[in-house]
This record gives sequence, structure tokens and C-alpha cells, in this order.
Amino acid sequence: MEFCSKVAHVGLCTDAKTGAISTPIYQSATFRHPGLGQSTGFDYSRTQNPTRKVLEEAVADLENGIAGFAFSSGMAAVSGVLMIYSSGDHLVVVEDCYGGTYRILDKVFARFGITTTFVDSSDMTEIAQAITQDTKAILVETPTNPLMKIADIRQIAALAHQHKLHCIVDNTFLTPYFQRPLELGADIVIHSGTKYLSGHNDVLCGIVVAREAELAEKIRFIQNATGAVLGPQDCWLLLRG
Ligand SMILES: Cc1ncc(COP(=O)(O)O)c(C=O)c1O
Repeated sequence: MEFCSKVAHVGLCTDAKTGAISTPIYQSATFRHPGLGQSTGFDYSRTQNPTRKVLEEAVADLENGIAGFAFSSGMAAVSGVLMIYSSGDHLVVVEDCYGGTYRILDKVFARFGITTTFVDSSDMTEIAQAITQDTKAILVETPTNPLMKIADIRQIAALAHQHKLHCIVDNTFLTPYFQRPLELGADIVIHSGTKYLSGHNDVLCGIVVAREAELAEKIRFIQNATGAVLGPQDCWLLLRG
């Protein structure tokens, strides 16, 4: 399906029970099992919620990834991705990243032993020189917030893979309409959906999309374990946006 057709279909469904064509807001924390050892596929909304599932599948489709994850804010999405790393790991991150991303790396993840080198992501030599034996990922925003600096995702992803690192791209400012980092080789895409993905300035939300199953499972685990999920009302608002 063409990208614009995909966008036009986001959130449209045919609810089997009622025929509703707008995704219903399943405002339920818990789901009853039909019987012992049986499940509708939903148990508890931190793990999965039917409205969130529609949104997560839609964003995965738009970014051309294997799975999407909806978080309660862009910073919850950034944190969720960073939590797949461990003490002793090192990250190479664009120096002109969103201030909140800088803050959480500098003031929170640093306390847990994850170190960061900030680089000019438009300078491939500087990025390559920052990689150490402990580096696990290169995280860029392109364009950056606030200076709108541009990075070459294709080249950065190639460099990352050459060193067996993840390439993570914060795609908040372009959205998958203008740029699909996974198609350029990135492994993970992050959004502050609060901005252009929702587009109405009425919902705070974050999105992560993974290209491959192994990373998707790590993020699914963190999302459920830490619990900063997007509520069903906000999922509906983002689907509408
Ligand atoms: C590029 C970028 N990433 C992440 C965030 C954090 O998103 P949120 O404000 O939804 O937590 C922002 C917020 O402005 C941003 O601009």
C-alpha cells in the first residue's frame, strides 16, 4: 500500500462486535479470561491493550518496522530504549540532541554506569573516533532539536553495523512521512509523538519502532517491566492525529 493510503487507514477498523469503524477506546485495566488457560490475547493493559495494539501496529507499519511500542511521553520512549543497555556500556550520541535526552543521559543513565560521548553527527570522522570497545549504540536526531543539524543516517547505520552497534534515530521532527530511518539501515526509531505524529498539541506520547525481532523483544520487555505505557484515550488521540 502507498504510504499516504497507509496513513489514511490508520485507526480505521471494523469492530467485530459493534461494527464501529473508528478504533474503540478500550478503557479497561484488566481483561477477563474466557476460561482456565484461555486468553483473548489481553490480560492487563500495562502488558497490552487493544487500542494501544492498533496504534503500535500502525506506527510499525508507517516506519516499516517489525513492531511498535507506545510510551507515555517521548522521554519515556527514549528511556525505554536506553534501558536495553547495561552498566559499563558506552553510547555515542549527537551533541545537539533534545535537552531532555542530554539530561537523562548525563544525570540519570550516567549514575547507572552507562557513559556517553557527545559528537557532531554531521562529522563521520568524529563519530568513528568516538567509538570504543564498550560502545553499544550510536543515537542521532536528524534534524536535531533545536539547531536542525542533519546527519547521514545511511552512513551512520553502516558505520554502526561495521562495529556491531545499534543505530538509533530520533525521527520526531520529520515523521515517517518525510524520513523512514529503518529503510536507511537504522535499527530503532524513536518519536516524541507529542509533536508532529499527533499534530494536535493535545497528547503527550512517545513511540519506539524496531526493525528486527530481537530488539523488538528487548523493548517489549522493558515497556512491560517499567510500565510507562500510553493510556487508551491517548492512543486513540494519536491514532486520530
Ligand atoms: C527530538 C525530541 N525527542 C524527544 C523529545 C521528548 O518528548 P516528550 O516531550 O514527548 O517527552 C522531544 C521533546 O521536545 C524532542 O524534541
